[in-house]
Amino acid sequence: MSKTILIVGAGGQIGTELVSHLQSIYGEDRVIAAELRPKVCKRMSEKARTVCLNALDRDAYAEVVRKYKPDWIFNLVAVLSATGENNPQTAWHVNMGALLNSLELAREFQCGVFTPSSIGVFGKDTPPDGTPQDTIMRPNTIYGICKVSGELLSDYYFSRFGVDTRSVRFPGIISHGTLPGGGTTDYAVEIFYAAVRGESFICPVPHNAYMDMMYMPDALKACSSLIEADPARLIHRNSFNVTAMSFCPGELYEVIKRRIPSFKMEYRIDPVKEAIASSWPNYMDDSCARAEWGWNPTWDIDAMADDMLKHLRMKL
Ligand code: SER
Repeated sequence: MSKTILIVGAGGQIGTELVSHLQSIYGEDRVIAAELRPKVCKRMSEKARTVCLNALDRDAYAEVVRKYKPDWIFNLVAVLSATGENNPQTAWHVNMGALLNSLELAREFQCGVFTPSSIGVFGKDTPPDGTPQDTIMRPNTIYGICKVSGELLSDYYFSRFGVDTRSVRFPGIISHGTLPGGGTTDYAVEIFYAAVRGESFICPVPHNAYMDMMYMPDALKACSSLIEADPARLIHRNSFNVTAMSFCPGELYEVIKRRIPSFKMEYRIDPVKEAIASSWPNYMDDSCARAEWGWNPTWDIDAMADDMLKHLRMKL
């Protein structure tokens, strides 16, 4: 069935590619890209219906929802984990403010809300290996606290108001389009830029810090599959563990070095990122997503590395 989709925070790493992914499914004119930064809006408007919007401005946001009548809002507004630690108050204000506005407008205008959650919901007390879907969630980053609160609030809007809220706990997303910003997993994107530019990479995360990762095409597939999933099959909603691979910087370096033998990497550990990485799972169990809506990732570390290098060689 065709849908109209409003993507809020559309100019970020996920949004940029989600716009064209959803356009390819629902049609070019059925996707509305909303973004805060005027320059990014201008660039996006060449490829999509675009509105400049501050998602914290409830009245302006309501106007956009009233005008376009979306079936789904993708709320991608986020201050990520490492940036969040520099200014926790802003992180809370932005992350929760945009979500609350999205949920309230979805309640008023009767549409669904998809908000990415994150591996950041987990913390030091969580079992790190094969992290279960339902387990201890006591993060100690403001980003993680926002994401856990967001999951609970989204489930509340579903059970209390019947808003169709759905979400996945994304791991680090690797892509060659728009760079991520301020995340602990960003190293796994930045390393490819250094490798293709012939530079050595300074890695801020310890060599043996395992974290879940996913290549962008799988992340896009997760978004579209979950909003198309049969609600009768969903035991969980906010939010599903999803993963495609797990590796540490040392392993990713070896994978790239096999393809670019001259590539060098050294470590200059960022203590904030080190602490965050060590509190996150080594790898998650995503069997509930597989059972409830058919999650099935395609890309492993080798296929992802080949594709990243191919695209960045064309781009840089
Ligand atoms: N990529 C995110 C981060 O590192 C995780 O959700 O902050």
